[in-house]
Amino acid sequence: LLVDKGNHRHFMAKEIDEQPETISHTLSHYVDMASETAALREGLPFDFASLPRLTISACGTAYYAGCVAKYWFERYARLPVDIDVASEFRYREPPLMPNGLSLFISQSGETADTLAALRYCASQDQHIASLINTLESTIARESDVVFPILCGPEIGVASTKAFTAQLTALAGLAVAAGRARGVLTPEAERQLVHALVGLPSAVSEALRAETQIMEIARHLSRAKDVLYLGRGQMFPIAMEGALKLKEISYIHAEGYPAGELKHGPIALIDEDMPVIVVAPSDELVDKTLSNMQEVAARGGRIILITDEVGANAAGKDVAEIIRIPQVSSFVAPIVATIPVQLLAYHTAVAMGTDVDQPRNLAKSVTVE
Ligand code: G6P
Repeated sequence: LLVDKGNHRHFMAKEIDEQPETISHTLSHYVDMASETAALREGLPFDFASLPRLTISACGTAYYAGCVAKYWFERYARLPVDIDVASEFRYREPPLMPNGLSLFISQSGETADTLAALRYCASQDQHIASLINTLESTIARESDVVFPILCGPEIGVASTKAFTAQLTALAGLAVAAGRARGVLTPEAERQLVHALVGLPSAVSEALRAETQIMEIARHLSRAKDVLYLGRGQMFPIAMEGALKLKEISYIHAEGYPAGELKHGPIALIDEDMPVIVVAPSDELVDKTLSNMQEVAARGGRIILITDEVGANAAGKDVAEIIRIPQVSSFVAPIVATIPVQLLAYHTAVAMGTDVDQPRNLAKSVTVE
């Protein structure tokens, strides 16, 4: 495969930087820019309007993309969604409603557990759809319909641009489903697609926090444990941030739903554990900020990822604020991903780990 790092020190840095272009490429497949409507280019073997349920399975970062999509399909298409990691799903052998849609998300299209989950669903009269980057892959071949991710080859073991491309595609599909199910008016659809169209420039703007994030990463690299908090659609971004950090810096990190803080992790809070709060302004931001204050009251060092409105509401308890641009809450999870990727990357660089080939990990896990 002939891909080089260009002027970047690592493939991961290049792939993080490329996201305005990769997202734009993915968008042009899933939306019609001129009319600001969702575009469905694949012939569908099912009808979104009559689907009883959507079941999503995936592994690793692709699973977190599915977790965000659950919020989107439920909110904008009123479609019930089940999601599980493929390694659990396949052995649970869950009962599935006839004619349901099963969706498998995989960058490589070769992940063994995801493929096994697909084969189980195929044996249960489900429509099989996959969201895949590598189109010549086993999962793509065994699907009734393949939605392409279109982010180009991803070399870094820790997934970055594939994640934001998966989210972009899923967002487009959720809008298409919302329209087909009569949930979104043409004006509502137009507003959502308008927000999607603004993503490449919002992501470019979010990338500008890099210098500040390098400074913060120097502190993070001295931590033994890091807690990431998020609510609603920011909870999967907190989990993805924690996954990125542990994968490449080997620092223990956990993503937690902010509302569960008081049911356990608050016991861990002290000056030595940085807490990264992912909370752009949305209808839940006040709840998350009040969880943040509980952390501050116990001496926790807070790094807040938010926008202008969130920053104004945050008060003085915050050690650092990483700004992302003010965007519609629909697309905020995609924009908020940028700082968590950069935090993990620069922490790993500060620690001197092998960023593109972290120990013990494989890009594609083709055995169970
Ligand atoms: C491995 C990779 C991850 C990836 C996961 C799922 O663990 O290191 O980056 O998210 O597999 O891979 P897939 O190819 O199915 O998306």
